[in-house]
Amino acid sequence: MSDKDFEKVDITIRSNTKDIFAFTKLVPNRIKRIKKASNESITDDPINDLAKKLHPKLQYLQIDQIIEETKSTRTYRLVPDAKRGTEQLAYFRAGQYLSLKVEINEEWITRPYSISSSPRESLEGYYEITIKKEEDEGFLTPFIWKSWKVGTKIISSGPEGFLYYEPLRDKKQILGLAGGSGITPFRSLAKSIAAGDIDAKLTLLYGCSDEDDIIFYEELKALEKAHPEKLKVVIVLSCEEITLKGCEAGFITKELIEKYADVANNSVFICGPQIMYDFIKKQLKRFNLPPKQIRREAFGEIKNISEFSGFPNDAVDKTFTIKAHIGGMVKEIPAKSTQSVLVALERARLAPPSKCRSGECGFCRTLLIDGNVYVSPISDWRREADKKFNYIHACSSYPITDLELIIPRTI
Ligand code: FES
Repeated sequence: MSDKDFEKVDITIRSNTKDIFAFTKLVPNRIKRIKKASNESITDDPINDLAKKLHPKLQYLQIDQIIEETKSTRTYRLVPDAKRGTEQLAYFRAGQYLSLKVEINEEWITRPYSISSSPRESLEGYYEITIKKEEDEGFLTPFIWKSWKVGTKIISSGPEGFLYYEPLRDKKQILGLAGGSGITPFRSLAKSIAAGDIDAKLTLLYGCSDEDDIIFYEELKALEKAHPEKLKVVIVLSCEEITLKGCEAGFITKELIEKYADVANNSVFICGPQIMYDFIKKQLKRFNLPPKQIRREAFGEIKNISEFSGFPNDAVDKTFTIKAHIGGMVKEIPAKSTQSVLVALERARLAPPSKCRSGECGFCRTLLIDGNVYVSPISDWRREADKKFNYIHACSSYPITDLELIIPRTI
């Protein structure tokens, strides 16, 4: 709410006694109103209609445009597919993601992708997601790269995730630390700030390994030029040869952060690959910030789980058996210790619903009735009660013995 909105609010202040006596009339007044009401049954349900619009379980979309951003990055513009039931896109908050549900070789898998367009653009009828083709990214991005064309139909969740600006919680100044394709939520945020939809300032330190890998360079620099009082964009390049003017060389270190931001007065938002996050975490530790001042986009599975402290050496490279109870059925499937329980269940087409794939959303919550899992320390977002009663988040749990699970429902 702006100050102007507050001026419009009409408040009647009465005495304490009058307010107390008003309670005594609450029930009789309600009865009077009910008696006066029409006998016609109510067919409209505006509150539930609004909730469904804002939080749809699924959205049916199709690709309207594909934009080549760099040699390995593309932006896909997605519009609603009214023929399959989505007439309007759900509104979102800059920084949120969509969980896409994709069928490959008769197997349904989900992947989260940040929305790189702005919330305002969703009201104009489109979302954009920007995907980098990583060679070691498994089979989904190569599949998307090869098969997604204009007109391809997509199924997605509603907007999800917590990497958004919240004026009641966050400081007016945001320090964005982005790495590689982790720039996508910051593009959405920068556009929203530039458009005046978010009343905050953004200093963005964007780390890339090469000049050719910088995504949205021209666009971000144009936004900065148009709104220097609100946006500052610094490209940080770790390559040896740098031709681009105005960049910083090296990595996002404590010293570099201090050069551009008064960290104590910033809310810090981080999005990037795990290796960058591990590095930045160490740098930020030196500022001694309270955890609430740091927000991190958590999605993405961990690739090197066996290197985490506490992962048992004798489980590395082993394959265990998961006995999965689902409905009235019991199925036994193989599960590698270094792949999440979710991946094993997906391969066997037994997966519970999933969205973030990093322990945060709780959609893949599953009951462990026998055996042990290693839970990734950086993505253990389970509630205490869940821990006590042996619920795991399948996406952030790794089998270290044979397991027996009860799966609530499949995707
Ligand atoms: S998919 Fe979100 S917690 Fe597992």
